[in-house]
Amino acid sequence: MTSSAHSPKILVTGGAGFIGSHTVVSLVEAGFEPVIVDDLSNSLSSALDGLRAILGRDVAFYQADCNDREAMKAIFEQEQLTGVIHFAAYKAVGESVAEPLKYYNNNLGSLLLLLDLMKEYKVRTLVFSSSCTVYGQPEHLPVTEETPRLPAQSPYGNTKAIGEDIIRDAVRAQWPVKALALRYFNPIGAHPSAEIGELPLGVPANLVPFITQTAAGMRPSLTVYGDDYNTPDGTCVRDYIHVMDLADAHVQALRQLNETNADACYDVINIGTGRGETVLNVIKTFEEATGVSVNYTIGPRRPGDVEQVYADVSKSARVLNWKTTHSLAEALRDAWRWQQKIGAKVASE
Ligand SMILES: NC(=O)c1ccc[n+]([C@@H]2O[C@H](COP(=O)([O-])OP(=O)(O)OC[C@H]3O[C@@H](n4cnc5c(N)ncnc54)[C@H](O)[C@@H]3O)[C@@H](O)[C@H]2O)c1
Repeated sequence: MTSSAHSPKILVTGGAGFIGSHTVVSLVEAGFEPVIVDDLSNSLSSALDGLRAILGRDVAFYQADCNDREAMKAIFEQEQLTGVIHFAAYKAVGESVAEPLKYYNNNLGSLLLLLDLMKEYKVRTLVFSSSCTVYGQPEHLPVTEETPRLPAQSPYGNTKAIGEDIIRDAVRAQWPVKALALRYFNPIGAHPSAEIGELPLGVPANLVPFITQTAAGMRPSLTVYGDDYNTPDGTCVRDYIHVMDLADAHVQALRQLNETNADACYDVINIGTGRGETVLNVIKTFEEATGVSVNYTIGPRRPGDVEQVYADVSKSARVLNWKTTHSLAEALRDAWRWQQKIGAKVASE
Protein backbone atom coordinates (compact mmCIF):
# COMPACT_ATOMS: atom_id res chain seq x y z
CA MET A 1 0.00 0.00 0.00
CA THR A 2 1.20 3.55 -0.63
CA SER A 3 -0.24 6.71 0.85
CA SER A 4 -2.91 8.93 -0.75
CA ALA A 5 -4.70 12.20 -0.01
CA HIS A 6 -6.82 10.37 2.60
CA SER A 7 -3.93 8.71 4.43
CA PRO A 8 -3.27 9.62 8.06
CA LYS A 9 -0.86 12.54 8.17
CA ILE A 10 2.23 12.18 10.32
CA LEU A 11 4.41 15.15 11.20
CA VAL A 12 8.04 14.06 10.79
CA THR A 13 10.30 16.56 12.52
CA GLY A 14 13.85 16.27 11.24
CA GLY A 15 12.50 14.43 8.20
CA ALA A 16 15.29 15.64 5.93
CA GLY A 17 17.90 14.03 8.19
CA PHE A 18 19.41 10.55 8.11
CA ILE A 19 16.84 8.45 9.99
CA GLY A 20 13.93 10.80 9.28
CA SER A 21 14.30 10.67 5.49
CA HIS A 22 14.39 6.85 5.47
CA THR A 23 11.36 6.77 7.73
CA VAL A 24 9.50 9.02 5.29
CA VAL A 25 9.96 6.28 2.65
CA SER A 26 8.66 3.58 5.00
CA LEU A 27 5.69 5.74 6.02
CA VAL A 28 4.59 6.30 2.44
CA GLU A 29 5.02 2.61 1.61
CA ALA A 30 2.89 1.73 4.65
CA GLY A 31 0.07 4.09 3.67
CA PHE A 32 0.82 7.07 5.92
CA GLU A 33 1.26 10.60 4.57
CA PRO A 34 4.38 12.26 6.00
CA VAL A 35 4.62 16.01 6.53
CA ILE A 36 8.25 16.99 7.00
CA VAL A 37 9.43 19.90 9.11
CA ASP A 38 13.16 20.49 9.14
CA ASP A 39 15.28 23.62 9.45
CA LEU A 40 18.07 21.98 7.41
CA SER A 41 20.53 22.76 10.22
CA ASN A 42 22.11 19.32 9.76
CA SER A 43 20.80 18.22 6.38
CA LEU A 44 20.49 19.39 2.80
CA SER A 45 17.46 20.00 0.63
CA SER A 46 18.93 17.36 -1.72
CA ALA A 47 17.44 14.80 0.69
CA LEU A 48 14.05 15.95 -0.62
CA ASP A 49 15.23 15.36 -4.20
CA GLY A 50 16.27 11.85 -3.15
CA LEU A 51 12.86 11.24 -1.62
CA ARG A 52 11.19 12.46 -4.82
CA ALA A 53 13.34 10.06 -6.86
CA ILE A 54 12.41 7.09 -4.63
CA LEU A 55 8.73 7.92 -4.18
CA GLY A 56 8.01 9.37 -7.63
CA ARG A 57 6.30 12.39 -6.07
CA ASP A 58 6.76 15.23 -3.60
CA VAL A 59 6.21 15.02 0.14
CA ALA A 60 4.95 18.06 2.06
CA PHE A 61 7.94 19.96 3.42
CA TYR A 62 8.16 22.96 5.73
CA GLN A 63 11.54 24.55 6.31
CA ALA A 64 11.09 25.67 9.89
CA ASP A 65 12.65 25.50 13.32
CA CYS A 66 10.71 23.18 15.64
CA ASN A 67 11.28 25.72 18.40
CA ASP A 68 9.47 28.45 16.47
CA ARG A 69 6.01 28.44 18.03
CA GLU A 70 4.35 30.52 15.34
CA ALA A 71 5.75 28.44 12.50
CA MET A 72 4.85 25.15 14.22
CA LYS A 73 1.38 26.37 15.10
CA ALA A 74 0.81 27.30 11.47
CA ILE A 75 1.74 23.74 10.44
CA PHE A 76 -0.61 22.19 13.00
CA GLU A 77 -3.30 24.59 11.80
CA GLN A 78 -2.73 23.82 8.13
CA GLU A 79 -2.34 20.03 8.26
CA GLN A 80 -4.81 17.61 9.78
CA LEU A 81 -2.16 15.65 11.65
CA THR A 82 -2.84 12.34 13.38
CA GLY A 83 0.61 11.71 14.81
CA VAL A 84 4.14 13.00 15.27
CA ILE A 85 7.55 11.37 14.97
CA HIS A 86 10.06 13.63 16.64
CA PHE A 87 13.53 13.14 15.16
CA ALA A 88 14.65 16.77 15.12
CA ALA A 89 17.56 17.23 17.50
CA TYR A 90 21.22 18.11 17.54
CA LYS A 91 23.25 14.93 17.98
CA ALA A 92 26.99 15.71 18.10
CA VAL A 93 28.16 14.40 21.46
CA GLY A 94 31.41 16.41 21.54
CA GLU A 95 29.71 19.66 20.58
CA SER A 96 27.09 19.08 23.28
CA VAL A 97 29.86 19.07 25.91
CA ALA A 98 31.18 22.39 24.61
CA GLU A 99 27.74 23.99 24.08
CA PRO A 100 25.30 22.27 26.43
CA LEU A 101 22.64 24.97 26.41
CA LYS A 102 22.38 24.83 22.64
CA TYR A 103 21.50 21.13 23.05
CA TYR A 104 19.08 21.55 25.94
CA ASN A 105 17.32 24.41 24.15
CA ASN A 106 16.97 22.66 20.83
CA ASN A 107 16.33 19.07 21.86
CA LEU A 108 14.08 19.75 24.83
CA GLY A 109 12.50 23.05 23.76
CA SER A 110 11.21 21.42 20.58
CA LEU A 111 9.75 18.48 22.52
CA LEU A 112 7.95 20.74 25.02
CA LEU A 113 6.48 22.83 22.22
CA LEU A 114 5.33 19.73 20.34
CA LEU A 115 3.60 18.32 23.42
CA ASP A 116 1.81 21.63 23.87
CA LEU A 117 0.64 21.80 20.28
CA MET A 118 -0.35 18.14 20.25
CA LYS A 119 -2.65 18.83 23.19
CA GLU A 120 -4.06 21.97 21.62
CA TYR A 121 -4.72 20.32 18.24
CA LYS A 122 -5.71 16.91 19.66
CA VAL A 123 -2.93 15.03 17.93
CA ARG A 124 -2.68 11.86 19.94
CA THR A 125 0.32 9.72 18.96
CA LEU A 126 3.99 10.50 19.45
CA VAL A 127 7.11 8.50 18.63
CA PHE A 128 10.26 9.92 20.18
CA SER A 129 13.86 9.25 19.06
CA SER A 130 15.76 8.07 22.09
CA SER A 131 19.04 6.22 22.23
CA CYS A 132 20.80 3.26 23.80
CA THR A 133 23.20 5.87 25.14
CA VAL A 134 20.82 6.12 28.15
CA TYR A 135 22.13 2.72 29.34
CA GLY A 136 25.83 3.66 29.48
CA GLN A 137 27.80 0.45 30.06
CA PRO A 138 25.13 -1.99 31.27
CA GLU A 139 26.09 -4.71 33.75
CA HIS A 140 24.22 -7.43 31.88
CA LEU A 141 24.02 -8.04 28.15
CA PRO A 142 21.97 -8.04 26.05
CA VAL A 143 20.45 -4.93 27.59
CA THR A 144 16.71 -4.97 28.34
CA GLU A 145 14.40 -2.01 28.80
CA GLU A 146 14.27 -2.80 32.55
CA THR A 147 17.98 -2.06 32.89
CA PRO A 148 18.35 1.12 34.95
CA ARG A 149 19.54 4.12 33.01
CA LEU A 150 22.94 5.46 34.04
CA PRO A 151 23.86 9.13 34.44
CA ALA A 152 24.42 10.51 30.95
CA GLN A 153 27.99 10.94 29.75
CA SER A 154 27.16 14.08 27.77
CA PRO A 155 24.55 16.84 27.56
CA TYR A 156 23.37 15.20 24.31
CA GLY A 157 22.76 11.90 26.11
CA ASN A 158 21.08 13.80 28.91
CA THR A 159 18.61 15.39 26.48
CA LYS A 160 17.49 11.87 25.53
CA ALA A 161 17.03 10.78 29.16
CA ILE A 162 15.25 14.03 30.07
CA GLY A 163 13.16 13.85 26.90
CA GLU A 164 11.95 10.40 27.93
CA ASP A 165 11.14 11.70 31.43
CA ILE A 166 9.25 14.71 30.10
CA ILE A 167 6.98 12.46 28.04
CA ARG A 168 6.56 9.96 30.89
CA ASP A 169 5.59 12.69 33.37
CA ALA A 170 3.22 14.37 30.92
CA VAL A 171 1.45 11.06 30.31
CA ARG A 172 1.31 10.35 34.07
CA ALA A 173 -0.41 13.71 34.48
CA GLN A 174 -2.99 12.63 31.89
CA TRP A 175 -1.57 14.69 29.04
CA PRO A 176 -3.70 13.17 26.29
CA VAL A 177 -0.85 11.57 24.37
CA LYS A 178 0.03 7.97 23.54
CA ALA A 179 3.79 7.81 23.20
CA LEU A 180 6.64 5.43 22.56
CA ALA A 181 10.29 6.29 23.06
CA LEU A 182 12.40 4.15 20.75
CA ARG A 183 15.92 3.57 22.04
CA TYR A 184 17.94 3.19 18.86
CA PHE A 185 21.13 1.21 18.87
CA ASN A 186 23.58 2.04 16.02
CA PRO A 187 21.84 2.97 12.76
CA ILE A 188 23.94 2.47 9.64
CA GLY A 189 23.49 1.97 5.89
CA ALA A 190 21.31 3.82 3.45
CA HIS A 191 18.31 3.27 1.21
CA PRO A 192 19.36 0.62 -1.37
CA SER A 193 18.70 3.10 -4.20
CA ALA A 194 21.49 5.33 -2.79
CA GLU A 195 19.14 8.30 -3.29
CA ILE A 196 19.23 9.12 0.44
CA GLY A 197 21.73 8.32 3.19
CA GLU A 198 23.76 9.76 6.04
CA LEU A 199 25.53 13.10 5.59
CA PRO A 200 28.23 13.31 8.23
CA LEU A 201 29.37 16.90 8.42
CA GLY A 202 33.07 17.22 9.24
CA VAL A 203 35.05 14.31 10.63
CA PRO A 204 32.62 11.47 11.36
CA ALA A 205 32.40 10.35 14.97
CA ASN A 206 30.74 7.08 13.98
CA LEU A 207 32.47 3.97 12.68
CA VAL A 208 30.69 3.26 9.40
CA PRO A 209 30.95 6.72 7.78
CA PHE A 210 34.62 6.64 8.80
CA ILE A 211 35.05 3.25 7.12
CA THR A 212 33.35 4.36 3.90
CA GLN A 213 35.29 7.66 3.75
CA THR A 214 38.56 5.78 4.30
CA ALA A 215 37.64 3.19 1.66
CA ALA A 216 36.85 6.07 -0.72
CA GLY A 217 40.32 7.55 -0.13
CA MET A 218 38.98 10.68 1.58
CA ARG A 219 40.88 9.73 4.75
CA PRO A 220 44.26 7.98 4.81
CA SER A 221 43.45 5.58 7.61
CA LEU A 222 40.87 4.57 10.18
CA THR A 223 41.84 4.47 13.83
CA VAL A 224 40.35 1.63 15.86
CA TYR A 225 40.08 2.99 19.38
CA GLY A 226 41.47 0.25 21.59
CA ASP A 227 41.95 -3.51 21.10
CA ASP A 228 42.34 -4.44 24.77
CA TYR A 229 38.68 -4.52 25.78
CA ASN A 230 37.14 -7.66 27.26
CA THR A 231 35.47 -8.63 23.96
CA PRO A 232 36.09 -11.47 21.46
CA ASP A 233 38.85 -9.60 19.57
CA GLY A 234 39.48 -6.79 22.06
CA THR A 235 37.62 -4.08 20.11
CA CYS A 236 34.34 -2.41 21.14
CA VAL A 237 31.04 -4.16 20.48
CA ARG A 238 27.90 -2.40 19.17
CA ASP A 239 24.55 -3.38 17.73
CA TYR A 240 24.44 -2.05 14.15
CA ILE A 241 20.98 -1.77 12.63
CA HIS A 242 20.16 -1.06 8.98
CA VAL A 243 18.45 2.32 8.80
CA MET A 244 15.59 0.84 6.71
CA ASP A 245 14.87 -1.66 9.49
CA LEU A 246 14.90 1.23 11.95
CA ALA A 247 12.57 3.19 9.65
CA ASP A 248 10.12 0.28 9.59
CA ALA A 249 10.15 0.12 13.39
CA HIS A 250 8.62 3.62 13.41
CA VAL A 251 5.76 2.48 11.21
CA GLN A 252 5.11 -0.41 13.56
CA ALA A 253 5.28 1.95 16.54
CA LEU A 254 2.61 4.19 15.00
CA ARG A 255 0.41 1.20 14.22
CA GLN A 256 0.77 -0.11 17.75
CA LEU A 257 -0.15 3.29 19.22
CA ASN A 258 -3.15 3.59 16.91
CA GLU A 259 -4.43 0.24 18.16
CA THR A 260 -4.06 1.17 21.83
CA ASN A 261 -7.36 2.08 23.45
CA ALA A 262 -5.90 4.02 26.38
CA ASP A 263 -6.26 7.81 26.31
CA ALA A 264 -2.67 8.22 27.40
CA CYS A 265 0.22 5.79 27.61
CA TYR A 266 3.99 5.73 27.46
CA ASP A 267 6.58 3.02 26.99
CA VAL A 268 10.21 2.60 25.93
CA ILE A 269 11.42 0.01 23.43
CA ASN A 270 14.89 -1.04 22.29
CA ILE A 271 15.37 -0.97 18.55
CA GLY A 272 18.34 -3.07 17.52
CA THR A 273 19.26 -6.39 15.93
CA GLY A 274 20.12 -8.20 19.16
CA ARG A 275 23.61 -8.98 17.81
CA GLY A 276 26.83 -7.39 18.98
CA GLU A 277 29.61 -6.88 16.42
CA THR A 278 33.19 -5.92 17.12
CA VAL A 279 34.81 -3.04 15.26
CA LEU A 280 37.24 -5.42 13.56
CA ASN A 281 34.39 -7.64 12.41
CA VAL A 282 32.58 -4.66 10.91
CA ILE A 283 35.72 -3.73 8.96
CA LYS A 284 36.18 -7.34 7.78
CA THR A 285 32.51 -7.64 6.78
CA PHE A 286 32.75 -4.36 4.87
CA GLU A 287 35.80 -5.61 2.97
CA GLU A 288 34.12 -8.91 2.13
CA ALA A 289 30.82 -7.28 1.13
CA THR A 290 32.34 -4.62 -1.11
CA GLY A 291 35.69 -6.05 -2.21
CA VAL A 292 37.33 -2.80 -1.07
CA SER A 293 40.04 -2.85 1.58
CA VAL A 294 40.19 -0.40 4.48
CA ASN A 295 43.42 0.94 5.91
CA TYR A 296 43.32 0.94 9.67
CA THR A 297 45.57 1.23 12.67
CA ILE A 298 44.96 0.36 16.31
CA GLY A 299 45.03 3.42 18.56
CA PRO A 300 44.42 4.02 22.26
CA ARG A 301 40.96 3.75 23.80
CA ARG A 302 38.74 6.79 23.23
CA PRO A 303 37.53 8.46 26.46
CA GLY A 304 33.82 7.93 27.05
CA ASP A 305 33.44 4.82 24.85
CA VAL A 306 31.53 1.97 26.47
CA GLU A 307 33.04 -1.48 26.01
CA GLN A 308 30.00 -3.24 24.63
CA VAL A 309 26.29 -2.77 24.27
CA TYR A 310 23.68 -4.66 22.27
CA ALA A 311 19.94 -4.94 22.54
CA ASP A 312 17.63 -7.50 23.99
CA VAL A 313 15.01 -7.35 21.25
CA SER A 314 12.26 -9.49 22.79
CA LYS A 315 10.13 -6.46 23.70
CA SER A 316 10.25 -4.96 20.20
CA ALA A 317 9.27 -8.34 18.77
CA ARG A 318 6.41 -8.72 21.25
CA VAL A 319 5.02 -5.18 21.38
CA LEU A 320 5.72 -3.97 17.84
CA ASN A 321 5.57 -7.32 16.06
CA TRP A 322 8.76 -6.20 14.34
CA LYS A 323 12.27 -7.50 13.81
CA THR A 324 15.18 -6.61 11.59
CA THR A 325 15.46 -8.20 8.15
CA HIS A 326 18.71 -6.74 6.78
CA SER A 327 22.15 -8.20 7.49
CA LEU A 328 25.26 -6.29 8.51
CA ALA A 329 26.76 -7.03 5.08
CA GLU A 330 23.72 -5.52 3.31
CA ALA A 331 23.88 -2.43 5.49
CA LEU A 332 27.58 -1.98 4.74
CA ARG A 333 27.05 -2.50 1.00
CA ASP A 334 24.28 0.12 1.04
CA ALA A 335 26.47 2.53 3.02
CA TRP A 336 29.21 2.05 0.44
CA ARG A 337 26.87 2.62 -2.50
CA TRP A 338 25.74 5.87 -0.85
CA GLN A 339 29.35 6.94 -0.19
CA GLN A 340 30.19 6.37 -3.85
CA LYS A 341 27.17 8.42 -4.87
CA ILE A 342 27.97 11.40 -2.63
CA GLY A 343 31.66 11.13 -3.42
CA ALA A 344 30.79 11.47 -7.09
CA LYS A 345 28.45 14.36 -6.35
CA VAL A 346 31.16 16.26 -4.49
CA ALA A 347 33.60 15.58 -7.33
CA SER A 348 31.14 16.92 -9.91
CA GLU A 349 30.50 20.19 -8.04
N1 LIG B 1 22.14 8.52 14.18
C1 LIG B 1 22.31 7.92 15.35
O1 LIG B 1 23.29 7.22 15.57
C2 LIG B 1 21.26 8.07 16.43
C3 LIG B 1 21.26 7.17 17.51
C4 LIG B 1 20.31 7.31 18.52
C5 LIG B 1 19.38 8.35 18.45
N2 LIG B 1 19.41 9.21 17.39
C6 LIG B 1 18.42 10.29 17.36
O2 LIG B 1 17.62 10.13 16.20
C7 LIG B 1 17.20 11.41 15.71
C8 LIG B 1 17.58 11.53 14.25
O3 LIG B 1 18.97 11.35 14.12
P1 LIG B 1 19.71 11.43 12.71
O4 LIG B 1 20.90 10.55 12.80
O5 LIG B 1 18.74 11.25 11.63
O6 LIG B 1 20.21 12.93 12.76
P2 LIG B 1 20.25 14.04 11.60
O7 LIG B 1 21.05 15.18 12.12
O8 LIG B 1 20.63 13.43 10.30
O9 LIG B 1 18.71 14.44 11.51
C9 LIG B 1 18.12 15.36 12.41
C10 LIG B 1 17.40 16.39 11.53
O10 LIG B 1 16.76 17.32 12.41
C11 LIG B 1 16.95 18.62 11.89
N3 LIG B 1 16.81 19.54 13.01
C12 LIG B 1 17.60 19.66 14.11
N4 LIG B 1 17.11 20.60 14.94
C13 LIG B 1 15.97 21.08 14.36
C14 LIG B 1 15.02 22.05 14.71
N5 LIG B 1 15.10 22.77 15.85
N6 LIG B 1 13.99 22.30 13.86
C15 LIG B 1 13.88 21.61 12.71
N7 LIG B 1 14.75 20.67 12.31
C16 LIG B 1 15.79 20.41 13.13
C17 LIG B 1 18.30 18.61 11.22
O11 LIG B 1 18.42 19.58 10.19
C18 LIG B 1 18.34 17.19 10.64
O12 LIG B 1 17.83 17.16 9.32
C19 LIG B 1 17.85 12.43 16.62
O13 LIG B 1 16.93 12.79 17.62
C20 LIG B 1 19.02 11.68 17.22
O14 LIG B 1 19.38 12.20 18.46
C21 LIG B 1 20.31 9.09 16.38
